[in-house]
Amino acid sequence: MNRKANIAIKADFLHFLSESEMVYIRNGLLWVEDGKVKMIGSVDEVSPFLPKKFTLKDESGKLVFPGFIDGHVHAVQTQAIASYGKQLLDWLETYIFPLEQKFEDEHFARRSIKFFLNQLVKNGTTTAAIFPSRHSIATSILFEEALALNMRILAGKTNMDRNAPIALCDDTKQTYIDNQQLINKYHQKGRINYTITPRFAITSTEAQLQALGDLKKSYPQLAVQTHVSESRNEVDPVKKMFPQAKNYLDVYDTYGYLGKGSLMAHAIFLEDDEWKRLSETQTSIIHCPTSNLFLGSGLFNMQKCRDYNIPLALGSDVGAGNSFSMLRTASEAYKVAALQNIEFTARNAFYLLTLGGAKALNQDDFIGNFEIGKEADFVVVDIGATELMQERITNINNIDELLFVLMMLGDDRNIKSVYLQGEKVNI
Ligand code: GUN
Ligand code: ZN
Repeated sequence: MNRKANIAIKADFLHFLSESEMVYIRNGLLWVEDGKVKMIGSVDEVSPFLPKKFTLKDESGKLVFPGFIDGHVHAVQTQAIASYGKQLLDWLETYIFPLEQKFEDEHFARRSIKFFLNQLVKNGTTTAAIFPSRHSIATSILFEEALALNMRILAGKTNMDRNAPIALCDDTKQTYIDNQQLINKYHQKGRINYTITPRFAITSTEAQLQALGDLKKSYPQLAVQTHVSESRNEVDPVKKMFPQAKNYLDVYDTYGYLGKGSLMAHAIFLEDDEWKRLSETQTSIIHCPTSNLFLGSGLFNMQKCRDYNIPLALGSDVGAGNSFSMLRTASEAYKVAALQNIEFTARNAFYLLTLGGAKALNQDDFIGNFEIGKEADFVVVDIGATELMQERITNINNIDELLFVLMMLGDDRNIKSVYLQGEKVNI
């Protein structure tokens, strides 16, 4: 299979050079060489430079974005999406832990994980930070399938050793070895970034958190991803379990998890000291609005995140989140912000889904926009994919209005095709 395509694509393009610089090119041409962006501009600007041999993809009238980024999603919860009526801790016990145990079965794991990755791509997500189960085999399957698709992913086995069914708990000493084996086999293979993944403070002993901290010291280039302060009912037990910690985040700080590229999902009930510490360490927050509304967890304060200048991405958090679509995720982020009188424009949203998300995941050297040399992961969007959207866009005055309609009404029906390093994926 040709993994590093040479193509030119004719369409409208939208991307960000920075948070405040949005570039919108009508009737443009994107030239991809060896899977990377070679040139982008108007048809007239780019055409003279095209080589003799290339494949032209004519997507005139469609809008092309850099691939969307999902900053937090579980590969092993698809079959529990939309499970009724519980809040975080009960929801985990009732629906999630029983399901995650099934990933011990290699056959089940492979079928589910293939389905999961396909859902991501169908929704225009080309990069994701992913939690698999605690099983090394299921984690390997995630990596193998991502390699087969040529997807950029951040993931590592999900570590637990208490307050979960025994079948989901590691032997604490084995944690280090199992992670190390996976790192040696998969980190930096294709576009895999191994990410150290303690599930959350409640499901790890101090010994396991320490082992993962030691791992981080041995592999300082690796980031850590986990959950923090998602639910009120979770914060008090954490304080009781870790009485020496100043606050919830301090548990993670103690073991050296914070820093650029590390990913803290949710961050709803933070104290001022925690906001400050995230800012000082430039640790990223992943805001998961569909999940926070679905579980009744609470409202993330995006304004504080801006005030403290903390890197931010959006996450679907499936299965607590109830959609794989980052468009639907953005529309719920709008509503969470609106409830608190916080501005969240379509520009804000599409920045987070592309360059902003890439920065939060520390992947912006490779992806996030159409700068020359970046990997050509992109999504071809049909704004008029539904009758309602066709009707609505008869009353559009500018690109911001169009983007807002796409953000509020869009979903997988708008994703016409998806390219990974210039190669069209069969979805
Ligand atoms: N906190 C710990 N585990 C989980 C999980 O699987 N989903 C969510 N939303 N929160 C968690
Ligand atoms: Zn989660």
